Amino acid sequence: MVLASGSGSNFQAIIDAVEQKRIPAKIAGLIAGKPGIGAIKRAENHNIPVETIPRGTAGDSLSAFLTDVLNPWSPDLVVLAGFLKKIPSDVVDQYSGRMINIHPSLLPKYGGKGFYGFLVHQAVLEAGDSQSGCSVHYVNEKYDDGSIIEQREVPVKPGDTPSTLAERVLEEEHRLITDVVARLIQPET
Ligand code: GRF
Repeated sequence: MVLASGSGSNFQAIIDAVEQKRIPAKIAGLIAGKPGIGAIKRAENHNIPVETIPRGTAGDSLSAFLTDVLNPWSPDLVVLAGFLKKIPSDVVDQYSGRMINIHPSLLPKYGGKGFYGFLVHQAVLEAGDSQSGCSVHYVNEKYDDGSIIEQREVPVKPGDTPSTLAERVLEEEHRLITDVVARLIQPET
């Protein structure tokens, strides 16, 4: 199960890891944050069901949409990968301990409302940090705030731009998210 809003490269990394049996699980479906995102095509290419959140859905209607889609899939784990909407607290409660998010910085630095995508890497460079990285954490009712499961450091290199840094961090994200999902999805014993 993945919720995605972006190009879906983290989603693709999970698809590949499942198909290569590095993650002992089946992807129940994709919830796309809005129509037309790259992740939808990736799901269609792998016959993964897609539910797309209609534009402007928020608050109670977002909560109802997520509940109506997630519950029938009864996922062991829900992965947010580039999902930019905040998860309503009733859904967070329902999936407590079973919903994770990946963020492209060493949280708690450069996390929270307004820190996403390009803006994260821009802030790291403006601060002159020598290290950046990525973090996987449990989702709570605030942005990028739940307990951290694992983080990986990524060096900032001289002459880096936000996009060169983003690319280097994203490569590490793909390794981190698949390692963490494989560890959390334990086959039924
Ligand atoms: C990643 O940097 C992820 O950390 C952030 O949004 C980006 C999504 O990229 N939440 P993609 O859609 O997985 O390619």
